[in-house]
Amino acid sequence: MSTYFERVTQAAEFLRARIGAAPEAAIVLGSGLGDFADSLGDATTVRYADIPHWPASRVIGHAGKLVVGTARGRRILALAGRVHFYEGHDLATVTFATRVLWKLGIQVLVLTNAAGGINTKFAQGALMVIDDHINFMGSNPLIGPNDDRFGFRFPDMTEVYSRRLRALADASANAMGLAVEHGVYVAVHGPSYETPAEIRTFRTWGADAVGMSTAPEAIVARQMRMEVLGISCITNMAAGVLPQPLHHDEVMETAARVKGQFIALLEGVVERL
Ligand code: HPA
Repeated sequence: MSTYFERVTQAAEFLRARIGAAPEAAIVLGSGLGDFADSLGDATTVRYADIPHWPASRVIGHAGKLVVGTARGRRILALAGRVHFYEGHDLATVTFATRVLWKLGIQVLVLTNAAGGINTKFAQGALMVIDDHINFMGSNPLIGPNDDRFGFRFPDMTEVYSRRLRALADASANAMGLAVEHGVYVAVHGPSYETPAEIRTFRTWGADAVGMSTAPEAIVARQMRMEVLGISCITNMAAGVLPQPLHHDEVMETAARVKGQFIALLEGVVERL
């Protein structure tokens, strides 16, 4: 039996043989936001199924491929598709890809997601720069024996989402004339959507958006001292905000509607790295 660190290393070595030197940044694309991967120039694509030990996602809207290519003259690695805690994977599996990106030598990680808007000032389709998160998944990806090669047992989480990268996102949005929101992302286990009572509770905690990903990846990335940016696409207003039920189709529809803006915002960030 190989150790987790060995499996991470094997996956990284497999990828290094195919993609060469570490790209300047990696971008994890959330539900319905995978098109950025197809916008990259001179692309090399690797299917998740071909990467040793790499977990596969079966959620609709997640493609399951890694693409390395250029955007605005920068070499970028994009992950179209991630696995989620609610699929039944443990958080070590959920964060396997993040570990591999680090092992490849990538230092800048952009995490994107679809999220429900808790802040009633947000519009459906808005993009939110994540300033901080609340991990309410009921677990933590660092539970278990600590492998010091990744980082500390008790890593600092004072600035999970880099001030520098958040400022780059603002600069990118300004240059496009796009108004982006800022706020706190609360990560929940899912897969059921929240109740209105839960959303009211999260609002009193200071949360602006809710989703089922990102926090585990951000935590392990910070343990490994990667620089993290988080961007949420507010695909729907959270439960109880509007007098209508939630449906995954709405999430996908809104993501499809704003993907042009989303891609342009990411390109602007990449250009400014
Ligand atoms: N809640 C949780 N996760 C989500 C939502 C939501 O409203 N929208 C997109 N992902």
